[in-house]
Amino acid sequence: MRSLRLIALLVTLSAATVAAQDTSSRAAPRRLALTPPMGWNSWNKFGCDVSEQLIRETADAMVRTGMRDGGYVYVNVDDCWHGARDSLGFIHPDPTRFPSGIKALADYVHAKGLKLGIYSDAGSKTCGGKPGSRGYERQDALMYAKWGVDYLKYDWCNTEELSAHGAYLTMHEALASTGRPIVLSICEWGTNKPWEWGPSVGQLWRTTGDIGASFATDIDRGNWKQLSVLSIIDLQLPLRKYAGPGHWNDPDMLEVGNGLSAAENRAHFAMWSMLAAPLIAGNDLRSMPPDVASVLTNREVIALDQDSLGVEAFRHSSSDSVDVWFKPLANGDWAMAVLNRAGSARKFAFDWKREQVSDSLSGRGAHLDAVRYAVRDLWAHRDLGTTQRPLAAQVASHDVLLLRLRKM
Ligand code: GLA
Repeated sequence: MRSLRLIALLVTLSAATVAAQDTSSRAAPRRLALTPPMGWNSWNKFGCDVSEQLIRETADAMVRTGMRDGGYVYVNVDDCWHGARDSLGFIHPDPTRFPSGIKALADYVHAKGLKLGIYSDAGSKTCGGKPGSRGYERQDALMYAKWGVDYLKYDWCNTEELSAHGAYLTMHEALASTGRPIVLSICEWGTNKPWEWGPSVGQLWRTTGDIGASFATDIDRGNWKQLSVLSIIDLQLPLRKYAGPGHWNDPDMLEVGNGLSAAENRAHFAMWSMLAAPLIAGNDLRSMPPDVASVLTNREVIALDQDSLGVEAFRHSSSDSVDVWFKPLANGDWAMAVLNRAGSARKFAFDWKREQVSDSLSGRGAHLDAVRYAVRDLWAHRDLGTTQRPLAAQVASHDVLLLRLRKM
């Protein structure tokens, strides 16, 4: 009887071990993105007009402008790099746009200390009508690995009746089977609640439809809309609990430098950093004016995004078109953003000692009534005194006051 029980116990234990191993080998590796991925992507500015020359020049510009040294790593080519599949089904790049091939491009990018990202789609065709990966997942993953690709953005057009979780899991497993660490960026626009299954499949997932270069109003494209920066921010409100080190909500790539005003560039970048969003620039880095470069390379702002605690900001209050957001940071500091959504300036007053700033998600509280903080303005790079005295400020239209509170 005893030995029967022992055998039963051993069987149960080994089944449990197998199950545990199974889950860990299938799970998406978190170490690939312990902080939100940073890089550049061709789509927002160039659409389908991509080429190896553009990607090489962009890699050069990432180094020249100080973006690489500021933490940007991935140079990602989006849709339309594709040529045709060969007789065995392997995909090749467009021979006119990428005459040297993707391997040579990856070598070039790697030699600069950067990484290369590529794009595909879970359906039969990409959104731009190029060959999708459906039915070719293993072959495509093998090719990407052979080329030395480090990041895959995987889109959701032309997927018909496919299950999103299943389709992304298939690509996750195909990538894992190559043995090359490749970040999987899930891009199904938040349609199938990717925050619920994404963490075991990829490192980041889009939460919304596509962003447009507009701060406050959505852009009507007939049968679809490009979302404004403010619309996207509002859609993130219920999602913060799903993000953390290794698995991030992705409110889409940046439109900084694509026609927003200087204030809007700042506010957009500040809020993406508060939201611990992937910072994937989407402008032409080769001809970036200094004011745009200074937004994208502001290290004090990037530090909020890349903070190792990995907790997204929460909205503390919202009145008269002014939102106040707080983000807890690993060392006990807090980031604070005062976002003016209005079309005109707003006066802002904040009596620290009367405010209760606490976050049930991270279990952290600022205890502003008892603890004194030094206040630093992260855009002006200026110390503003302490939380002993109430804050009074004016925030321009569509601008942001971005502060770091350091415990004294
Ligand atoms: C979708 C994605 C975009 C971009 C395009 C490419 O719309 O959401 O980010 O990749 O496809 O066609």
